[in-house]
Amino acid sequence: MKIMVVGGGGREHTIIKKLKENQTITEIFALPGNGGMAKDATCVNIAATDLDGIVAFAKENAIDYAVVAPDDPLVLGCVDRLNEIGIPCFGPNAKAAIIEGSKAFSKDLMKKYNIPTATYETFTDIEKALAYVESCAIPVVVKADGLALGKGVIIAQNRQEAIDAVTDMMANAKFGKSGSTVVIEEFLTGPEVSVLAFTDGNVVKPMVSSMDHKRAGDNDTGLNTGGMGTIAPNPYYTEDIAKTCMKTIFLPTIAAMNAEGRTFRGCLYFGLMLIPNGPKVIEYNCRFGDPETQVVLPLLESDLLTVMQATTNGTLADTEVKFSDKCACCVVTASAGYPASYEKGFEITMTEEAEKHTYVAGAKLENGKLVTSGGRVTGTTAVADTLQQAVSEAYRLADGVCFQNAYRRSDIGQRGLAAYK
Ligand code: AMP
Ligand code: GLY
Repeated sequence: MKIMVVGGGGREHTIIKKLKENQTITEIFALPGNGGMAKDATCVNIAATDLDGIVAFAKENAIDYAVVAPDDPLVLGCVDRLNEIGIPCFGPNAKAAIIEGSKAFSKDLMKKYNIPTATYETFTDIEKALAYVESCAIPVVVKADGLALGKGVIIAQNRQEAIDAVTDMMANAKFGKSGSTVVIEEFLTGPEVSVLAFTDGNVVKPMVSSMDHKRAGDNDTGLNTGGMGTIAPNPYYTEDIAKTCMKTIFLPTIAAMNAEGRTFRGCLYFGLMLIPNGPKVIEYNCRFGDPETQVVLPLLESDLLTVMQATTNGTLADTEVKFSDKCACCVVTASAGYPASYEKGFEITMTEEAEKHTYVAGAKLENGKLVTSGGRVTGTTAVADTLQQAVSEAYRLADGVCFQNAYRRSDIGQRGLAAYK
Protein backbone atom coordinates (compact mmCIF):
# COMPACT_ATOMS: atom_id res chain seq x y z
CA MET A 1 0.00 0.00 0.00
CA LYS A 2 1.10 3.53 -0.75
CA ILE A 3 0.31 6.01 2.01
CA MET A 4 0.42 9.78 1.99
CA VAL A 5 0.66 11.78 5.22
CA VAL A 6 -0.17 15.48 4.94
CA GLY A 7 1.79 17.65 7.39
CA GLY A 8 5.36 18.10 8.47
CA GLY A 9 5.83 18.25 12.24
CA GLY A 10 6.59 16.00 15.18
CA ARG A 11 3.03 14.68 15.19
CA GLU A 12 3.34 13.56 11.58
CA HIS A 13 6.73 11.96 12.25
CA THR A 14 5.15 9.99 15.10
CA ILE A 15 2.24 8.87 12.91
CA ILE A 16 4.67 7.80 10.17
CA LYS A 17 6.91 5.82 12.53
CA LYS A 18 3.85 4.03 13.92
CA LEU A 19 2.40 3.31 10.47
CA LYS A 20 5.72 1.76 9.43
CA GLU A 21 5.06 -1.14 11.82
CA ASN A 22 2.46 -2.33 9.28
CA GLN A 23 4.12 -4.68 6.81
CA THR A 24 1.59 -4.10 4.01
CA ILE A 25 2.75 -0.51 3.60
CA THR A 26 5.31 -0.28 0.81
CA GLU A 27 5.84 3.47 0.71
CA ILE A 28 5.00 6.52 2.80
CA PHE A 29 5.08 10.05 1.38
CA ALA A 30 5.09 13.08 3.67
CA LEU A 31 3.74 16.38 2.25
CA PRO A 32 5.85 18.36 3.00
CA GLY A 33 7.41 16.34 5.86
CA ASN A 34 10.74 17.67 7.11
CA GLY A 35 14.42 16.82 6.80
CA GLY A 36 14.38 14.99 10.13
CA MET A 37 11.93 12.36 8.92
CA ALA A 38 13.62 11.70 5.58
CA LYS A 39 14.78 8.27 6.80
CA ASP A 40 11.19 7.23 7.52
CA ALA A 41 9.27 8.73 4.60
CA THR A 42 9.76 10.25 1.17
CA CYS A 43 9.35 13.97 1.75
CA VAL A 44 7.66 15.87 -1.06
CA ASN A 45 7.87 19.65 -1.16
CA ILE A 46 4.14 20.39 -1.31
CA ALA A 47 2.69 22.56 1.47
CA ALA A 48 0.00 21.06 3.70
CA THR A 49 -2.39 23.83 2.62
CA ASP A 50 -1.74 23.45 -1.13
CA LEU A 51 -4.84 21.38 -1.81
CA ASP A 52 -4.43 21.45 -5.60
CA GLY A 53 -0.84 20.23 -5.25
CA ILE A 54 -1.86 17.50 -2.80
CA VAL A 55 -4.66 16.23 -5.01
CA ALA A 56 -2.44 16.22 -8.13
CA PHE A 57 0.31 14.35 -6.28
CA ALA A 58 -2.10 11.76 -4.89
CA LYS A 59 -3.53 11.09 -8.33
CA GLU A 60 -0.16 10.85 -10.09
CA ASN A 61 1.24 8.51 -7.48
CA ALA A 62 -1.84 6.28 -7.10
CA ILE A 63 -2.02 6.81 -3.34
CA ASP A 64 -4.12 4.13 -1.63
CA TYR A 65 -4.81 5.94 1.65
CA ALA A 66 -4.18 9.45 2.95
CA VAL A 67 -3.78 10.71 6.50
CA VAL A 68 -4.52 14.43 6.81
CA ALA A 69 -3.01 15.44 10.13
CA PRO A 70 -2.99 19.26 10.61
CA ASP A 71 -5.99 21.48 11.29
CA ASP A 72 -5.74 23.90 8.37
CA PRO A 73 -5.95 21.43 5.46
CA LEU A 74 -8.80 19.64 7.27
CA VAL A 75 -10.72 22.89 7.74
CA LEU A 76 -9.98 23.85 4.12
CA GLY A 77 -11.53 20.59 2.88
CA CYS A 78 -8.50 18.45 1.98
CA VAL A 79 -10.41 15.24 2.81
CA ASP A 80 -13.35 16.32 0.62
CA ARG A 81 -11.03 16.99 -2.29
CA LEU A 82 -9.22 13.65 -1.96
CA ASN A 83 -12.50 11.77 -1.56
CA GLU A 84 -13.73 13.37 -4.79
CA ILE A 85 -10.97 11.57 -6.69
CA GLY A 86 -11.67 8.33 -4.84
CA ILE A 87 -8.88 8.38 -2.27
CA PRO A 88 -9.97 7.24 1.19
CA CYS A 89 -8.68 9.42 4.03
CA PHE A 90 -8.16 9.50 7.75
CA GLY A 91 -9.65 12.74 9.03
CA PRO A 92 -12.95 14.65 8.99
CA ASN A 93 -14.38 16.45 5.98
CA ALA A 94 -14.69 20.24 6.08
CA LYS A 95 -18.27 20.11 7.37
CA ALA A 96 -17.09 18.20 10.45
CA ALA A 97 -13.71 19.93 10.86
CA ILE A 98 -15.61 23.13 11.68
CA ILE A 99 -15.76 21.76 15.23
CA GLU A 100 -12.20 23.13 15.50
CA GLY A 101 -12.39 25.71 12.71
CA SER A 102 -14.98 27.84 14.48
CA LYS A 103 -15.13 28.28 18.24
CA ALA A 104 -18.53 29.99 17.86
CA PHE A 105 -19.79 26.82 16.12
CA SER A 106 -18.40 24.48 18.79
CA LYS A 107 -19.73 26.59 21.67
CA ASP A 108 -23.20 26.77 20.10
CA LEU A 109 -23.09 23.00 19.50
CA MET A 110 -22.31 22.35 23.15
CA LYS A 111 -25.03 24.72 24.33
CA LYS A 112 -27.65 23.18 22.01
CA TYR A 113 -26.83 19.60 23.04
CA ASN A 114 -26.15 20.23 26.74
CA ILE A 115 -22.48 19.30 26.61
CA PRO A 116 -20.72 20.83 29.65
CA THR A 117 -18.51 23.83 28.81
CA ALA A 118 -17.72 27.32 30.13
CA THR A 119 -20.57 29.83 29.75
CA TYR A 120 -19.94 32.30 26.92
CA GLU A 121 -21.17 35.01 24.59
CA THR A 122 -20.29 35.37 20.90
CA PHE A 123 -19.73 38.79 19.30
CA THR A 124 -19.34 40.07 15.75
CA ASP A 125 -19.79 43.71 16.81
CA ILE A 126 -16.82 45.26 18.61
CA GLU A 127 -18.91 47.84 20.49
CA LYS A 128 -21.05 45.09 21.99
CA ALA A 129 -17.96 43.02 22.86
CA LEU A 130 -16.32 45.99 24.59
CA ALA A 131 -19.52 46.79 26.51
CA TYR A 132 -19.65 43.16 27.67
CA VAL A 133 -16.09 43.11 29.02
CA GLU A 134 -16.80 46.37 30.92
CA SER A 135 -19.11 44.48 33.26
CA CYS A 136 -18.29 40.74 33.08
CA ALA A 137 -16.52 38.77 35.84
CA ILE A 138 -12.70 38.92 35.75
CA PRO A 139 -10.53 36.98 34.83
CA VAL A 140 -12.27 36.34 31.53
CA VAL A 141 -11.19 34.41 28.44
CA VAL A 142 -11.25 36.05 24.99
CA LYS A 143 -11.00 33.69 22.01
CA ALA A 144 -10.68 34.37 18.29
CA ASP A 145 -13.34 32.34 16.50
CA GLY A 146 -11.12 30.82 13.81
CA LEU A 147 -7.76 29.06 13.60
CA ALA A 148 -4.89 31.14 15.03
CA LEU A 149 -1.95 28.74 15.38
CA GLY A 150 -2.94 28.08 18.99
CA LYS A 151 -2.41 31.75 19.86
CA GLY A 152 -5.97 33.04 19.64
CA VAL A 153 -6.85 32.54 23.33
CA ILE A 154 -6.21 35.36 25.80
CA ILE A 155 -6.79 34.90 29.53
CA ALA A 156 -7.43 38.49 30.62
CA GLN A 157 -6.49 39.01 34.26
CA ASN A 158 -7.99 42.49 34.37
CA ARG A 159 -10.47 44.60 32.41
CA GLN A 160 -7.80 46.44 30.43
CA GLU A 161 -6.32 43.16 29.16
CA ALA A 162 -9.78 42.06 28.06
CA ILE A 163 -10.34 45.37 26.24
CA ASP A 164 -6.93 45.07 24.58
CA ALA A 165 -7.62 41.48 23.49
CA VAL A 166 -10.98 42.39 21.97
CA THR A 167 -9.44 45.43 20.23
CA ASP A 168 -6.47 43.44 18.88
CA MET A 169 -8.73 40.75 17.47
CA MET A 170 -11.69 42.77 16.21
CA ALA A 171 -10.24 46.18 15.28
CA ASN A 172 -6.56 45.44 14.59
CA ALA A 173 -7.16 42.05 12.92
CA LYS A 174 -4.27 40.50 14.85
CA PHE A 175 -5.42 37.05 13.74
CA GLY A 176 -6.81 38.17 10.39
CA LYS A 177 -10.34 37.00 9.65
CA SER A 178 -10.11 34.46 12.49
CA GLY A 179 -10.72 37.29 14.98
CA SER A 180 -13.59 39.09 13.31
CA THR A 181 -15.86 36.99 15.51
CA VAL A 182 -14.85 36.49 19.16
CA VAL A 183 -16.07 34.21 21.90
CA ILE A 184 -15.81 35.62 25.42
CA GLU A 185 -16.12 32.98 28.09
CA GLU A 186 -16.06 32.25 31.78
CA PHE A 187 -12.63 31.53 33.27
CA LEU A 188 -12.38 28.03 34.74
CA THR A 189 -9.62 26.45 36.81
CA GLY A 190 -8.68 22.84 37.31
CA PRO A 191 -6.35 20.18 35.93
CA GLU A 192 -6.40 19.95 32.14
CA VAL A 193 -6.62 16.64 30.31
CA SER A 194 -6.28 15.88 26.60
CA VAL A 195 -8.29 12.92 25.37
CA LEU A 196 -7.84 11.94 21.73
CA ALA A 197 -10.49 9.57 20.44
CA PHE A 198 -10.93 7.51 17.29
CA THR A 199 -14.41 7.71 15.86
CA ASP A 200 -16.17 6.52 12.73
CA GLY A 201 -19.27 8.55 13.51
CA ASN A 202 -20.98 5.58 15.16
CA VAL A 203 -18.74 4.55 18.02
CA VAL A 204 -16.03 6.45 19.82
CA LYS A 205 -12.90 4.76 21.18
CA PRO A 206 -10.85 7.07 23.39
CA MET A 207 -7.09 6.70 23.40
CA VAL A 208 -5.00 6.81 26.55
CA SER A 209 -5.34 10.25 28.21
CA SER A 210 -2.49 12.74 28.23
CA MET A 211 -1.30 16.05 29.70
CA ASP A 212 0.25 18.85 27.66
CA HIS A 213 2.61 21.49 29.11
CA LYS A 214 1.64 24.59 27.15
CA ARG A 215 3.67 27.37 28.76
CA ALA A 216 7.24 28.05 27.65
CA GLY A 217 8.76 28.21 31.15
CA ASP A 218 9.10 25.92 34.15
CA ASN A 219 6.22 25.86 36.65
CA ASP A 220 3.84 26.92 33.87
CA THR A 221 5.20 30.41 33.46
CA GLY A 222 5.86 32.44 30.33
CA LEU A 223 4.08 32.51 26.99
CA ASN A 224 1.71 29.87 25.63
CA THR A 225 3.39 27.57 23.11
CA GLY A 226 2.23 24.72 20.90
CA GLY A 227 3.29 22.41 23.77
CA MET A 228 6.67 21.87 25.47
CA GLY A 229 6.13 18.28 26.53
CA THR A 230 3.53 15.67 27.38
CA ILE A 231 2.87 12.68 29.58
CA ALA A 232 0.45 9.78 29.23
CA PRO A 233 -1.66 8.63 30.90
CA ASN A 234 -2.82 11.77 32.73
CA PRO A 235 -2.95 10.85 36.44
CA TYR A 236 -5.89 13.21 37.07
CA TYR A 237 -8.04 11.29 34.61
CA THR A 238 -9.45 8.51 36.79
CA GLU A 239 -11.67 5.69 35.59
CA ASP A 240 -14.68 7.39 37.15
CA ILE A 241 -13.96 10.63 35.33
CA ALA A 242 -13.45 8.68 32.09
CA LYS A 243 -16.91 7.12 32.52
CA THR A 244 -18.47 10.52 33.15
CA CYS A 245 -16.75 11.97 30.09
CA MET A 246 -17.99 9.14 27.88
CA LYS A 247 -21.57 9.73 29.06
CA THR A 248 -21.70 13.53 29.24
CA ILE A 249 -19.19 14.59 26.57
CA PHE A 250 -17.85 12.01 24.10
CA LEU A 251 -21.05 10.20 23.04
CA PRO A 252 -23.18 13.39 23.09
CA THR A 253 -20.63 15.14 20.85
CA ILE A 254 -20.65 12.33 18.26
CA ALA A 255 -24.47 12.29 18.34
CA ALA A 256 -24.66 16.09 18.10
CA MET A 257 -22.43 16.16 15.02
CA ASN A 258 -24.57 13.45 13.40
CA ALA A 259 -27.77 15.36 14.23
CA GLU A 260 -26.27 18.45 12.57
CA GLY A 261 -25.47 16.46 9.41
CA ARG A 262 -21.77 16.79 10.15
CA THR A 263 -20.70 13.23 10.93
CA PHE A 264 -17.17 13.28 12.32
CA ARG A 265 -14.69 10.57 11.29
CA GLY A 266 -11.05 10.47 12.31
CA CYS A 267 -9.45 11.65 15.54
CA LEU A 268 -11.50 13.98 17.72
CA TYR A 269 -9.47 15.74 20.39
CA PHE A 270 -11.25 16.69 23.59
CA GLY A 271 -9.45 19.39 25.58
CA LEU A 272 -11.01 19.00 29.03
CA MET A 273 -10.82 20.80 32.33
CA LEU A 274 -11.64 18.90 35.51
CA ILE A 275 -13.56 21.18 37.82
CA PRO A 276 -15.32 20.19 41.06
CA ASN A 277 -18.80 19.86 39.53
CA GLY A 278 -17.59 17.68 36.64
CA PRO A 279 -15.42 17.72 33.52
CA LYS A 280 -15.98 20.51 30.98
CA VAL A 281 -14.87 20.95 27.39
CA ILE A 282 -12.31 23.73 26.91
CA GLU A 283 -11.85 23.04 23.21
CA TYR A 284 -12.29 20.50 20.46
CA ASN A 285 -9.62 19.81 17.88
CA CYS A 286 -10.44 17.93 14.68
CA ARG A 287 -7.11 16.05 14.68
CA PHE A 288 -4.34 14.45 16.70
CA GLY A 289 -2.67 16.85 19.18
CA ASP A 290 0.95 17.86 18.96
CA PRO A 291 2.86 16.83 21.15
CA GLU A 292 0.12 14.57 22.62
CA THR A 293 0.56 12.17 19.70
CA GLN A 294 4.21 11.71 20.67
CA VAL A 295 3.14 10.00 23.93
CA VAL A 296 -0.16 8.43 22.88
CA LEU A 297 0.85 6.50 19.75
CA PRO A 298 3.94 4.87 21.29
CA LEU A 299 1.49 3.27 23.78
CA LEU A 300 -0.85 1.97 21.04
CA GLU A 301 -0.54 -1.79 20.72
CA SER A 302 -3.04 -2.21 17.88
CA ASP A 303 -2.06 -1.61 14.27
CA LEU A 304 -2.54 2.10 13.52
CA LEU A 305 -3.42 1.72 9.84
CA THR A 306 -6.11 -0.87 10.64
CA VAL A 307 -7.69 1.45 13.22
CA MET A 308 -7.49 4.46 10.90
CA GLN A 309 -9.13 2.54 8.07
CA ALA A 310 -11.87 1.42 10.45
CA THR A 311 -12.75 5.07 11.15
CA THR A 312 -13.03 5.64 7.39
CA ASN A 313 -15.04 2.48 6.70
CA GLY A 314 -17.39 2.71 9.66
CA THR A 315 -16.14 -0.55 11.18
CA LEU A 316 -14.60 0.79 14.37
CA ALA A 317 -17.05 -1.17 16.56
CA ASP A 318 -15.44 -4.41 15.35
CA THR A 319 -11.86 -3.16 15.53
CA GLU A 320 -9.70 -3.56 18.60
CA VAL A 321 -8.01 -0.39 19.86
CA LYS A 322 -5.64 -1.52 22.58
CA PHE A 323 -3.20 0.52 24.62
CA SER A 324 -0.36 -0.68 26.80
CA ASP A 325 -0.64 0.12 30.51
CA LYS A 326 2.82 1.66 30.55
CA CYS A 327 3.59 5.37 30.88
CA ALA A 328 5.15 7.74 28.37
CA CYS A 329 6.83 11.14 28.57
CA CYS A 330 7.84 13.41 25.68
CA VAL A 331 10.30 16.26 26.23
CA VAL A 332 10.39 18.93 23.53
CA THR A 333 13.70 20.55 22.64
CA ALA A 334 13.05 24.03 21.26
CA SER A 335 15.03 26.96 19.90
CA ALA A 336 15.75 29.36 22.79
CA GLY A 337 13.36 32.30 22.54
CA TYR A 338 10.42 30.27 21.18
CA PRO A 339 7.50 31.13 20.91
CA ALA A 340 8.72 34.72 20.42
CA SER A 341 11.81 35.30 18.27
CA TYR A 342 14.60 32.74 17.91
CA GLU A 343 17.54 31.94 15.65
CA LYS A 344 17.52 29.08 13.13
CA GLY A 345 20.05 27.21 11.02
CA PHE A 346 22.03 25.45 13.78
CA GLU A 347 23.27 21.93 13.09
CA ILE A 348 21.49 19.19 15.05
CA THR A 349 23.34 16.13 16.27
CA MET A 350 21.74 13.12 17.93
CA THR A 351 23.18 10.04 19.53
CA GLU A 352 22.00 6.83 17.86
CA GLU A 353 19.97 6.00 20.97
CA ALA A 354 18.35 9.44 21.14
CA GLU A 355 17.48 9.35 17.44
CA LYS A 356 15.48 6.13 17.88
CA HIS A 357 13.26 7.89 20.42
CA THR A 358 13.07 11.29 18.77
CA TYR A 359 10.40 12.80 16.52
CA VAL A 360 11.59 15.74 14.46
CA ALA A 361 9.50 18.88 13.94
CA GLY A 362 11.39 22.08 13.08
CA ALA A 363 14.38 20.90 11.09
CA LYS A 364 15.55 20.69 7.50
CA LEU A 365 18.39 19.12 5.55
CA GLU A 366 21.00 21.54 4.27
CA ASN A 367 24.00 20.15 2.37
CA GLY A 368 23.32 16.77 3.93
CA LYS A 369 23.25 18.17 7.47
CA LEU A 370 20.18 18.44 9.67
CA VAL A 371 19.72 22.05 10.85
CA THR A 372 17.10 23.78 12.99
CA SER A 373 14.31 25.53 11.07
CA GLY A 374 11.59 26.15 13.64
CA GLY A 375 10.64 26.86 17.23
CA ARG A 376 9.91 23.35 18.42
CA VAL A 377 12.73 21.28 16.95
CA THR A 378 12.36 17.77 18.37
CA GLY A 379 10.31 15.71 20.81
CA THR A 380 11.99 12.81 22.59
CA THR A 381 9.75 10.10 24.03
CA ALA A 382 10.44 7.40 26.58
CA VAL A 383 8.06 4.58 27.55
CA ALA A 384 8.48 2.90 30.94
CA ASP A 385 6.59 1.03 33.65
CA THR A 386 6.10 4.10 35.82
CA LEU A 387 5.68 7.79 35.09
CA GLN A 388 8.75 8.60 37.18
CA GLN A 389 10.86 6.25 35.08
CA ALA A 390 9.43 7.59 31.80
CA VAL A 391 10.21 11.17 32.84
CA SER A 392 13.79 10.40 33.90
CA GLU A 393 14.41 8.34 30.79
CA ALA A 394 12.93 10.97 28.43
CA TYR A 395 15.27 13.60 29.90
CA ARG A 396 18.27 11.26 29.69
CA LEU A 397 17.50 10.54 26.02
CA ALA A 398 16.76 14.20 25.19
CA ASP A 399 20.24 15.07 26.45
CA GLY A 400 21.46 13.18 23.38
CA VAL A 401 19.85 15.81 21.10
CA CYS A 402 22.22 18.76 20.69
CA PHE A 403 22.22 22.07 18.84
CA GLN A 404 23.23 25.62 19.65
CA ASN A 405 20.67 27.59 21.71
CA ALA A 406 18.67 24.44 22.52
CA TYR A 407 16.05 24.96 25.24
CA ARG A 408 13.94 22.50 27.23
CA ARG A 409 11.61 22.90 30.16
CA SER A 410 13.09 21.03 33.09
CA ASP A 411 9.81 20.06 34.78
CA ILE A 412 7.83 18.05 32.22
CA GLY A 413 5.86 15.44 34.16
CA GLN A 414 6.28 17.03 37.59
CA ARG A 415 2.67 18.19 37.79
CA GLY A 416 1.57 14.68 36.88
CA LEU A 417 3.84 13.12 39.47
CA ALA A 418 2.48 15.53 42.09
CA ALA A 419 -1.03 14.19 41.40
CA TYR A 420 0.02 10.80 42.78
CA LYS A 421 1.05 12.33 46.10
P1 AMP B 1 -7.15 26.55 23.52
O1 AMP B 1 -6.30 27.15 22.43
O2 AMP B 1 -8.60 26.70 23.33
O3 AMP B 1 -6.66 25.17 23.88
O4 AMP B 1 -6.79 27.37 24.84
C1 AMP B 1 -5.47 27.47 25.26
C2 AMP B 1 -5.42 27.32 26.73
O5 AMP B 1 -6.12 28.41 27.34
C3 AMP B 1 -6.10 26.08 27.30
O6 AMP B 1 -5.28 24.97 27.27
C4 AMP B 1 -6.39 26.52 28.70
O7 AMP B 1 -5.24 26.39 29.52
C5 AMP B 1 -6.71 27.97 28.55
N1 AMP B 1 -8.15 28.19 28.51
C6 AMP B 1 -8.97 28.16 27.44
N2 AMP B 1 -10.25 28.40 27.81
C7 AMP B 1 -10.24 28.58 29.14
C8 AMP B 1 -11.25 28.86 30.12
N3 AMP B 1 -12.54 29.02 29.81
N4 AMP B 1 -10.86 28.97 31.41
C9 AMP B 1 -9.56 28.84 31.75
N5 AMP B 1 -8.58 28.58 30.89
C10 AMP B 1 -8.90 28.45 29.60
N1 GLY C 1 -1.09 20.32 22.01
C1 GLY C 1 -2.28 21.01 21.72
C2 GLY C 1 -2.76 20.91 20.36
O1 GLY C 1 -2.32 20.10 19.56
O2 GLY C 1 -3.66 21.67 19.99
